[in-house]
Amino acid sequence: MTESSTNREQDATIAAHWREEALIEPPAVFVRQANANSVDIYERMSEDKFPGCFDEYARLLDWSRPWERTLDDDRPPFFRWFVGGELNASYNCIDRHLEGAGDKVAFHFVPEREDEPARSLTYADLYREVNELAAVLREDFGLKRGDRVTLYLPMTLELPIVMLACARLGVIHSAVFSGYSGQACADRINDSQSRVLITMDAYYRGGKLLDHNVKAEEAARLSDDCLEHCLVFRRHAGEYHSEAPMQAPRDRFADELLAERRGAEVAPEPMRSEDTLFLMYTSGTTGKPKGAQHSTGGYLTWATATSKYVLDLKPGDVYWCMADIGWITGHSYIVYGPLALGVTSVLFEGAPTVPDAGRPWRIVEQYGVEVFHTSPTAVRALRKADPDLPKQYNLKFRSMTTVGEPIEPEVWHWYRDAIGGGEAVITDTWWQTETGGHLITTLPGVTPMKPGSAGPALPGIYPVIYDEEGSPVQPGQRRAGNICIRNPWPGRMLTIWGDDERFVRTYYERYNRDPESRDWRDWPYLAGDGAIQSEDGYYRILGRIDDVINVAGHRLGTKELESACLTVEAVSEAAVVAVHDPVKGVLPEAYVSLKPGYAAETVGADVVGRIVEMIGPIARPRRVWVVEDVPKTRSGKIMRRVLSALSEGRDTGDVSTLANPEVVETIRRRIADETGG
Ligand code: WTA
Repeated sequence: MTESSTNREQDATIAAHWREEALIEPPAVFVRQANANSVDIYERMSEDKFPGCFDEYARLLDWSRPWERTLDDDRPPFFRWFVGGELNASYNCIDRHLEGAGDKVAFHFVPEREDEPARSLTYADLYREVNELAAVLREDFGLKRGDRVTLYLPMTLELPIVMLACARLGVIHSAVFSGYSGQACADRINDSQSRVLITMDAYYRGGKLLDHNVKAEEAARLSDDCLEHCLVFRRHAGEYHSEAPMQAPRDRFADELLAERRGAEVAPEPMRSEDTLFLMYTSGTTGKPKGAQHSTGGYLTWATATSKYVLDLKPGDVYWCMADIGWITGHSYIVYGPLALGVTSVLFEGAPTVPDAGRPWRIVEQYGVEVFHTSPTAVRALRKADPDLPKQYNLKFRSMTTVGEPIEPEVWHWYRDAIGGGEAVITDTWWQTETGGHLITTLPGVTPMKPGSAGPALPGIYPVIYDEEGSPVQPGQRRAGNICIRNPWPGRMLTIWGDDERFVRTYYERYNRDPESRDWRDWPYLAGDGAIQSEDGYYRILGRIDDVINVAGHRLGTKELESACLTVEAVSEAAVVAVHDPVKGVLPEAYVSLKPGYAAETVGADVVGRIVEMIGPIARPRRVWVVEDVPKTRSGKIMRRVLSALSEGRDTGDVSTLANPEVVETIRRRIADETGG
């Protein structure tokens, strides 16, 4: 039996211990007003109508040139959608709303500090600011379609403005989460060969004004010759809150350049549907992050249609997605989807529990937020802070969404009762950076909810669970397998930036029936998650089957963490495993062994420091165990499964076939001694 199948069996056992929850119908008042409130939508998107059924979604957008072919599947798995069509994402998110809704607020920007005034930006303001910035990017930096720009920006209005300015010019943006280290940012600048880095001097997070430009400066210093300029926004007009000196001529203040472009207008560049809109880096099973390369027409179609039917957004809504725009959730469900639908959103700079766990609810009351979107981690943190607190506020949510990890039924019920007043619909959406938007979720006005299960597949999406041998696992068998999507869909990434071969290998090779086949039916997409399907067709997602750790909804590659450990001089071997945590869901724990002649002394602290420096504080391990040796198979493969069982005090199963079974007992005793277990 392979290591991964043993893992999954364990997952399956865990899953089977979960009580199968009953279905919960959405309230009638919700159904009446929902954008999708009839099973018709599943019929309109039935498999015999594929791929033409997706034209309906593409028509939610304005195209400057209509498409000629819905799906070009001549060269699987490099599918292209709405071919022949031309459109501009910035036009669809801004210009088309100006007539009639120019005065409507696009974003209410709420700073972390409660004493700093909020700022509401209308669609007309957004138009002006995006155009002026597009003029700077084009005139001052000579950026043109196809060029890459890395955005290293916090959750302030500048981030969506910069994204849309890039989209206006056909420049490919690559946003890097602001919590990442300078080095992680540099890796992404170099991989994408970005010409410009756009950043900010500082921002507020966790009650502090963080110096951000020191990290951006490090990123610029470590980047290849590709980087020509840094454009630096200032968090407070006219002030500069960074220790890093601006370096002429490389670094320029955004406000100074924008002052020269007041009132500038830049015509939206007509982009081909299959042209790249952005890159979003995500962790893989090797140390090198992969740039998910998303298209303009297919991606925007998917983000818009799912915002409409899953989030149930209407033009009159005030909506708040608490994710960070530096991740895919923010791209699809703060920026592109909601703006394409002309919705008003809250954009919040801060952390949800600063200065206290009532902060989100004060914001919700102030702006009358009705549709709310967050992660299970945030829900768990709010629940831990004070389970009764939300009841003190006047919350009237119609719809609440989660994403990023499985949500435990207990947490689900608290979310619905304490925050949703027992009335809101809860939508648990399963998808990935690579998929562009939701794939498995209930349609809140059509399909009933089921705590702990993401739901059935969306209309037009046809999943299958395969076992190790490639046979489909039938629903209701209580057996887990690898979840795959049988058919192409518009939101899927085009490829991995610069690495078509890795794209095919990672997502398609495993279950491909014939590498020469030109039939999409032979190319199921491997998501990399384990899943179980119950008899009623609902999917329960069990987590990653590969070596990716999902911390608080952030994906970290085991290999990335291990390679950071190995940069500590004393460390000879490192294994990083995921351990369950009541708040974060999962946290990394590191096992390192030392080179001969080195003492353990500061190694634990050095490893933590190095991980934080190279990846960022989100990757901070819960513990570092300095051990003599790590358990390995005879072929030298580190048995992370055994280590994670040890970390969690579980049974390791049979270890007699390992190359070094004795180390298991040694480590177990160490852990018991040090944790008093
Ligand atoms: C996990 C986030 C269970 C899953 C949009 C997936 C989930 C990975 C859910 C993608 C969910 C996401 N239930 N697990 N509703 N949503 N995941 O690329 O393991 O940051 O493969 O995209 O998160 O993470 P990513």
